[in-house]
Amino acid sequence: MKGLFISVEGPDGSGKTTQIQELEKYFKDKNYDVVVTREPGGTPISEKIREVILDINNKDMDFVTEALLYAAARAQHVSQVIKPAILDGKIVICDRFVDSSIVYQGIGRNLGMKTVENINNIAINGYMPDITFFFKLSPEIGIYRKTKQGSKDRLESEKIAFHKKVFEGYEQLEKMHPQRIIGIDANRSIKEIYNEIIAYIETYLSSMNKTLNC
Ligand code: ADP
Ligand code: TYD
Repeated sequence: MKGLFISVEGPDGSGKTTQIQELEKYFKDKNYDVVVTREPGGTPISEKIREVILDINNKDMDFVTEALLYAAARAQHVSQVIKPAILDGKIVICDRFVDSSIVYQGIGRNLGMKTVENINNIAINGYMPDITFFFKLSPEIGIYRKTKQGSKDRLESEKIAFHKKVFEGYEQLEKMHPQRIIGIDANRSIKEIYNEIIAYIETYLSSMNKTLNC
């Protein structure tokens, strides 16, 4: 039996991690088997790759190298965590997935959406999210929140023009995949955002008549 794969996307600081923690509690309270993970990362090898990618000192990293490192971390993550969990009927909630590469590397770094998609096809091995929540928040607010949280990593330190391009990339993707990508107004209270997500999931599960591992 196949599980459910949910990814959460959006600008840095848009509240993804906060909502994922709430969503995890929601599923656990209902006794669902849930795996929460993140990208880049989610396995010991992928977390090591994450350190290299986000290291603020790696200023001269080539954009192709960057895209390949994200894809390498993802390949390990899919094979070691996501694929086994999905095949086991679990719910996987992933903080960022391949859409991040398509918009940050494809649009933000100008490598092209198609090129980045091709690089990633071998990494994801057919495992695409069933639902992707796209948190819509102006990059200025997101980056302001990150600055308040503490030191910024190599990607977060990019200029605001980069983050705006990335956001427009997300809007483009949302239009291309309206069935999968669900836009969420993230400029609201934590509770309001949570309620909308839960309402969507409950409708989705009942319309799919989905039975998952408890
Ligand atoms: P992300 O994972 O998208 O980077 P976080 O969940 O870490 O975002 O949130 C970034 C910061 O914004 C944190 O300090 C968090 O407490 C705060 N935050 C999260 N959601 C909201 C919200 N709806 N309104 C205001 N602040 C929020
Ligand atoms: P992370 O710190 O986990 O995200 P956030 O700041 O939203 O909490 O993500 C690390 C950074 O990596 C973030 O700026 C987005 C970027 N990124 C890419 O450029 N490509 C990718 O494929 C992924 C997964 C992330």
